[in-house]
Amino acid sequence: MKRSATTHSVEETRAWGAALATLLEPGMTVLLIGDLGAGKTALTQGIAAGLGIDRAVTSPTFTMVASHEVDGRRGISTLLHADLYRVGSGVEADDLALGELVEEAAVAVVEWGNVAPELVGHDQLIVTLTQGEGDEDRILELTDERNLCNEKLAGEAFTPWEHS
Ligand SMILES: Nc1ncnc2c1ncn2[C@@H]1O[C@H](COP(=O)(O)OP(=O)(O)O)[C@@H](O)[C@H]1O
Ligand SMILES: [Mg+2]
Repeated sequence: MKRSATTHSVEETRAWGAALATLLEPGMTVLLIGDLGAGKTALTQGIAAGLGIDRAVTSPTFTMVASHEVDGRRGISTLLHADLYRVGSGVEADDLALGELVEEAAVAVVEWGNVAPELVGHDQLIVTLTQGEGDEDRILELTDERNLCNEKLAGEAFTPWEHS
């Protein structure tokens, strides 16, 4: 199942990310695909906020993976935030330790996830972000290839951004 949306500001992208957070279950990975400045980090900030994280979330470009503790709601203990921009396609699963951590009640958000989609297991949602017509317009497309969250996706969580 797919859902797409258009946002008109960074705040709207964050709000959409918070809606996306309601879909997440332990072990799931969200791959973010889009150019520099597309809003991948902004979207991650929204996901983090939706999970109840109030620490500032910035792109872990130099550390590769940042780990944020979650207060355990819905059984999720950790948000892992990876950025593969500088890593390139040579990255190996062991370098990231994502697979292992995902099993431990974590969820992972991976910027530039297209670089190594096979790294992060199968329970993936994919979000592509592209520039819309205006400077601050972004088109967000969420693909749930494996129909992990059809029921929630069919619900109202995403409708505010769908017809604008
Ligand atoms: N609709 C929007 N959604 C997300 N970011 C937006 C939007 N409009 C403008 N921006 C700006 O675009 C930039 C996105 O940056 P960032 O999230 O770091 O992108 P990425 O991580 O994809 O490189 C920020 O400066 C943000 O303020
Ligand atoms: Mg980024």
